[in-house]
Amino acid sequence: CNIPLRERNIVLIGFMGVGKTTIGQLVAKKLYRDFIDVDQEIEKRHQMSIPAIFEQMGEDYFRKVERELIIDLCTNTRLKIISLGGGAYLQEEVRKACLSHGIVVFLDLSWENWKERLPSIVHDRPLLKNKTLEEIKELFEQRKQAYSQHHYRVATDGLDPETVATRVMKLIR
Ligand code: S3P
Repeated sequence: CNIPLRERNIVLIGFMGVGKTTIGQLVAKKLYRDFIDVDQEIEKRHQMSIPAIFEQMGEDYFRKVERELIIDLCTNTRLKIISLGGGAYLQEEVRKACLSHGIVVFLDLSWENWKERLPSIVHDRPLLKNKTLEEIKELFEQRKQAYSQHHYRVATDGLDPETVATRVMKLIR
C-alpha cells in the first residue's frame, strides 16, 4: 500500500464494550483528526439503531453493510481514527483492508475486567442478549484469534480512557 505511514487511518479493534468509541474520540481530538465510528455511521445512514437493524434486516445484511463501509473507508480515506464494531474484524476482507491500508490497534481488556462491564452494555448488543455468561466467555475467547492480527496491542486493564488514548497516540509518533 502506498499511503505514507503518518497519513494512514488508525483502526481500533477489540471486543464489544472495550472502549473503542471512547478511546477513538479521545485519540482523534489529541491528533486533530476526524473520528468515525462504523456502527454510528451505519445507524446514521439507516436512521435505525444497531439492534433494530439486526432485528429487521438480519445479521447477514448488517455484516455486508459493515464490510463495504470499512473497505471503502480503508481504501479511500486517510488521517482518520476509525473504530470498528467488535464483529467486523472477523471478516477476512475487512482484516485485509485494515491491515494493508491502516494501522490496526487492538484494545485488549482481560475477561475478568470485561465481565464487570457486561451489565452496562448488554442492552444494545444483540449478540449478547439471551446468552449465558459461559457462552459469552466462549465468544470472547474465540474472537481473540481474529484480533491477534494487528499492528499494535494496547492492554487496557486498570487504565483510564485518557491514558489508553495517550498510549495509542504515542504508537504513531
Ligand atoms: C458486534 C459489536 C457491536 C455492533 C454489533 C455487533 C459484534 O459493536 O457492531 O452489535 O459482533 O461484536 P461494538 O464492538 O462497538 O459493541
